[in-house]
Amino acid sequence: MPRPLATIVASGNGANALAAGMRILARGGAALDAVEACAKVVEADPADTSVGRGGKPNVLGQVELDASIVDGTTHRTGAVAALTGYLHPISVARAVMERTPHVFIVGQGAARFAGEIGAERARNLTPSTRALWVEKLREAGETPATIRRRARLLPVVRKTVGEERGTVNFLAVDAKGNVASAVTTSGWAYKYPGRVGDSPVIGAGNFCDSRYGAAACTGFGELAIRGVTAKTAVDRLAQGMPADMAARAAIGDANALDDAAFNIVVLTARGVHAAATNREGRRYAWLTAGMREPLTAPRILVRRSRARGARASR
Ligand code: GLY
Repeated sequence: MPRPLATIVASGNGANALAAGMRILARGGAALDAVEACAKVVEADPADTSVGRGGKPNVLGQVELDASIVDGTTHRTGAVAALTGYLHPISVARAVMERTPHVFIVGQGAARFAGEIGAERARNLTPSTRALWVEKLREAGETPATIRRRARLLPVVRKTVGEERGTVNFLAVDAKGNVASAVTTSGWAYKYPGRVGDSPVIGAGNFCDSRYGAAACTGFGELAIRGVTAKTAVDRLAQGMPADMAARAAIGDANALDDAAFNIVVLTARGVHAAATNREGRRYAWLTAGMREPLTAPRILVRRSRARGARASR
């Protein structure tokens, strides 16, 4: 069978980073290097307030970052969660995969490990995200000084968390047919300290297998953890379901649990891709070898119906 054309797929906020990955794939490079390179572009961009530097902080004003990377050929994986003070959680996740006997390191241990390998440090709370945090606290009747003195954070977190849970996904297949996937995020804005979403949880927010394809999620991460969504989507590809049906089915599963915003991107090992959502106006992006610029398209919309099950529409 002919090899697939090298392709990278992203959530819509990853469109501008796709060229960085394609530069690697175009010279015969690996899907794993491509998805890491793309993720690093978004992590370093303070304009994306859902990822890396400039990502929205937890309720205490700390930017806690989650990231994971999967090599679909070797099934090696690496992840970090609640990492603070470093610019590229995706590269720390990759180092967990390649340099430790572990697959997942969190919190102070993740920061310690990042320091130990000489990862680049960063002040991830920017003046503008600090201002957003202070305003969110003000709406909740708090200030930076009062929140730090509070014994009980939960009553405040109930007021500060909303639907702000951006993330960026990258799925790639290279010219040799290797599939890789990377997900990186600052998680749910103004969350309880230590809250971890789906992005670093392998099988929930991120999964791939070079035999079948890849899937990754954005939106309400708790749903992807409860539904083991990315692994389930790749299992559906393995069973022969087309990418668009696997994406629809994932949103249907999420809709059966909750009405929160939820999105998925899917890429088959042959380079066919699709994306679905339960919210209007969400897009995804892709770049295939030979294309001059990334394209974006609306995701398949799968609305939540009152009746059990979801109603799908374009
Ligand atoms: N999907 C990102 C998160 O829930 O943290």
